[in-house]
This record gives sequence, structure tokens and C-alpha cells, in this order.
Amino acid sequence: MPHDDLALDTLAVHAGLPGRIEGAVSFPVFHSSTFAARDAEDDEVRYTRLSNTPNQLHLAAKLAALTGAEDALVTASGMAATSAVLTSLLAHGDHALFQADVYGGTRAFATEELPRAGVATSFVPMDAPERWAAALRPTTRVLWVESLTNPRVKVTDLVAAIAFARAHGLVTVVDNTFASPVNLRPLALGADVEIHSASKYLGGHSDLVAGVVAGSRERVAAARERLVRWGGNVAPAVCFLLERGLKTLALRVARQNENARFLASRLASHPDVARVDYPGVGPEPLPPAMASVLRGFGGVFAFELAGGAAAAERFLSRLRLLTAAPSLGGVESLVSRPTLTSHASLTAEERAALGIGDGMVRVSCGIEAADDLLADLLGALRTG
Ligand SMILES: Cc1ncc(COP(=O)(O)O)c(C=O)c1O
Repeated sequence: MPHDDLALDTLAVHAGLPGRIEGAVSFPVFHSSTFAARDAEDDEVRYTRLSNTPNQLHLAAKLAALTGAEDALVTASGMAATSAVLTSLLAHGDHALFQADVYGGTRAFATEELPRAGVATSFVPMDAPERWAAALRPTTRVLWVESLTNPRVKVTDLVAAIAFARAHGLVTVVDNTFASPVNLRPLALGADVEIHSASKYLGGHSDLVAGVVAGSRERVAAARERLVRWGGNVAPAVCFLLERGLKTLALRVARQNENARFLASRLASHPDVARVDYPGVGPEPLPPAMASVLRGFGGVFAFELAGGAAAAERFLSRLRLLTAAPSLGGVESLVSRPTLTSHASLTAEERAALGIGDGMVRVSCGIEAADDLLADLLGALRTG
């Protein structure tokens, strides 16, 4: 199906469909690990670990359309996508630059796994471009950034980051999990590779774990080679769930954007709340170059309770509708305390440097009615 003239909303429903199987309107799950040769000349081995079976290929085609990529690859988890991409781009003796407040699992991969393979890594604050050049080495090959950060939803200046990477011959990889392709298309800005934890917005129902790599045919093929060797393929049944979730991606994210903006602005004026983090509401600046390319800021926002850890604990225990659980991006609203979940492995000083206090609560907005969510949050905030 030609894609050029279709909106993302339409692509999310139709892209990648190879035609009707037995007239089925949705693409069935092929619960088969291996496939017979198509004819005597067919020497391609089709096997689930090779990520070339019908459910995997059909879903990858849809994701390539949604990200605007030449090709895409679906993986067993976001971390499988991250590890496949990093190991395809870096070899012994190389050096890679990572955004300082990158997702904890990515940070652990950079500090624990890459050095074991002889790859050096450094971390740079993306909001201080004047410090990027000093971190470069003759062996630097990769710049890894996130489009929106966790948990403070800082907007990375991708335009500046990509220009910097190009000027120094680095491959730019963007983890676009928090924004989703609905809000931002990093490849259109010139990023080389986009990755996702599809466990979040892409799947959207907190019922699967998967990942995505998108980019040029060559870069995706290189990541696939690593994934095949290390066995990080996605299963056919997960492909079905992810494909079903993707059909409503545009609708869900539009509502999640609205819910987050509404709730963040309402909490910003509450006397128990010391600070709210959400673009346009909190203190973090929105890089001017990004204002025109972002279509929304996603469903996550965070706030710091003036009463610290005790207040945050009390707040969570009083919620009725929102569930205290890690992860994000699903249709149901979730809350977590970054000091105990995503950022538990950092020291108190490291967290303080990132502006993450003991009283911080992160909210991942679902698609519920905003007034119901607000009532639950205000009820749990009541003083005393
Ligand atoms: C920004 C980001 N990238 C990557 C990952 C890893 O994804 P997964 O849990 O699907 O392996 C996560 C998970 O929370 C994440 O938040």
C-alpha cells in the first residue's frame, strides 16, 4: 500500500496489511515457529528467531510506516531493541555518548555491558550543549538521546543534537518511547535510528513487552543480525497484541496528551505541590526549535510534594482510581515514585542533581475522563 499521502491515524489502522487471509479483516496469528519453502527455488529459512515470519514482517511494515522509516524491526523488549542497536553500531575500542538522564536500563547497559565488550561510554547533559564537544573522543561513534525524558518530561533539543552528531560523524539514536510517533518523528528531523519500548504507548494496554528499531534498511539489517544471534525475537502472539494496540495509537495518545496537560496545570496551583514537571507548565524550558515539531508532550507528568517522602507515601495510599505501578503509556492511569522505582539505583545526590526529590510522584495518564482523574488526585492530596 502506498503511504505517502496517508495520515498517521490511517496508517495506524491499515499500513502493513498484506491482503486478507481467508477474508479475515484482522491479520491472524500464525502460531508456527517454522515455515515450509514456497517452492523448489526458495532457499530462505523462515523461522521465528530470524524475525522473518508473517506476523513479525507485517507488524514491522506498519511500524516503518508510522515512524517514516525505510525499514523496522520488532524485538522481544525495548531493551532488546537497545542492545541490538548499540552492539550493531559499536565495536571494541569505540566510545559512545549518552544523554545524562537516560532510562535506567539503558544507563546500566552503557555502564555495565558495553565496557565488558571494550566500548567506553560517557554521559552528557543534553540541556548544556556547550559541554557536548568536550566529551568527544577520536573514537566516539554514537550519540544516544531520548526525545522526552523520564520522569521530568524535559524536551531534548533534537535539532541541535542531530546537527552536533552530524558535524562530528556520529550516528544519532533517539529513544522516542515517551513521545511516540504521534507526537514526534525523529527520523524526519534527521536522526539515524529510532527505538521504542513498545511496552508503553505503542502497545498501549499494559499487556505486552516488546521493542522497535526503525531506520534505514542498512541500519535495521545490522540490528537484526545482532538480534538473531542473541535471540531477542518477538513472539507471534505478542505481534498480534501490538498490532491491535497500534490501530488506536493516534486516538489514545491525543487523549493522553490532553489529560496530562489538564492535570499538570491543575496541580501546579495546589498548595501541597512544590513543583510540576510538564512542558509549558513546569519550569523546564521548551527548546524553541522543538516547539514547532512536537505535536504534543505525551501522557506523563511529574510533581514534587512539598511534604517529601511521607506525603508521597500518604498520597499513593489514598488513590482509588490511579494504580501505583511502574511503566507507562497504557489506557489506565498509573502512578509511581521515581525514588523507589525508575531511579532507585541512583544515589540521593545523583537524584537531587536531576531534580528528583523524595516527594516526587510520576503520573502516566490513561484515557479516562480527565475530571475523574482530577477528583482522585485532589482527594488523595487533601491536607492532613
Ligand atoms: C524510555 C525507555 N526506554 C526503554 C525502556 C525499556 O523497555 P522495555 O521495558 O520494554 O525493555 C523503557 C522501559 O521502561 C523506557 O522507559
